[in-house]
Amino acid sequence: MKILVTGGLGFIGSHTVVELQSEGFEVVIIDDCSNASEEVLKGINAITGKMPLYEKIDLKDKEKVIDFFKRHDDVEGVIHFAASKAVGESVEKPLLYYENNIATLVYILKELSQKKKSSFIFSSSCTVYGQADKMPITESAPIKPAESPYGNTKQMGEEIIRDTCLVTPNLNAIALRYFNPMGAHPSAEIGELPIGVPQNLIPFITQTGVGMRKELSVFGDDYPTKDGTCVRDYIYVVDLAKAHVQALKRLLEHENGENYEVFNLGTGTGSSVLEVIQSFERVSGEKLNYKIVDRRPGDVISAFADTTKANEVLGWKAQYTLDEAMKSAWDWEQKIRN
Ligand code: UD1
Repeated sequence: MKILVTGGLGFIGSHTVVELQSEGFEVVIIDDCSNASEEVLKGINAITGKMPLYEKIDLKDKEKVIDFFKRHDDVEGVIHFAASKAVGESVEKPLLYYENNIATLVYILKELSQKKKSSFIFSSSCTVYGQADKMPITESAPIKPAESPYGNTKQMGEEIIRDTCLVTPNLNAIALRYFNPMGAHPSAEIGELPIGVPQNLIPFITQTGVGMRKELSVFGDDYPTKDGTCVRDYIYVVDLAKAHVQALKRLLEHENGENYEVFNLGTGTGSSVLEVIQSFERVSGEKLNYKIVDRRPGDVISAFADTTKANEVLGWKAQYTLDEAMKSAWDWEQKIRN
């Protein structure tokens, strides 16, 4: 069964391709390599013994999208990761984000709507909840006004899919709201590869650990949390990848309740920035250089998932601990720097 994975060379995409291939799916990747490298294909091949099909296509090119679906009319499901994801950059370049994240989504949905039957998985984010009023966050928590164009593209993306599903019974879709993905494949053949200075906590920590960065800035220690630093739900990328396969199978096997569904993907445990640093120090045996600085504008205080729906309805549960995920991130960082 052929599955299209857009953004399949990226961090979460590549791990999902591995899980799909391990379960016997045939994968075709579309990636424009704007934030990923074709080298990732070698890593996927090293793990699974199979080279996925791959086409370098910019999904903003509508004609190319139409042409792709004509040539691959046997695609039965699409997992759509391709998107820009830097919050700060989205504030600087809103139109880039609306074009990359929204226009491309519309083009793909237009093609899928014309098929007799199609299954679609969308990468959404816990960012749609903003600062939720209650922890842990359930899927029915209100959607708060977006803090950034990036966050807005995730909210709008969900609405576009929901509205399309309402009038397109042959389209079945699931939006997965990720909490904070981290880590790398246990083989250390694929992992996170941020370009330039990492904006996210985990790659900044591991790069500081290997000496590429002088010190980590911890953004604020005066939040109303257990130790004053922000709390997040860090989810191992392989667990996350498996959830995509589970969601896809749910659609392919007609197990979905409605033709548009939403699931949180997290561990259900909130960890503070200082706890994440302690985890790094435990698994690496190294002391991490860090200093406390001012809060980062736009950061929410706390966000962790209520995973009941994913556990009970999707039949998926995160298996790995923060330390295990951290160990994989550290192994990967050391491997790529050597
Ligand atoms: C951010 C986005 C989220 C997006 C995700 C993926 C916001 C509010 N959320 O998540 O929408 O899906 O990135 O790109 O922007 N931290 C430090 N020092 C650092 C980096 C981070 O202390 O150098 C702290 C942050 O304040 C935060 C935590 O670490 O408390 C996690 O930060 P980060 O990895 O950037 O993820 P989010 O901000 O949660």
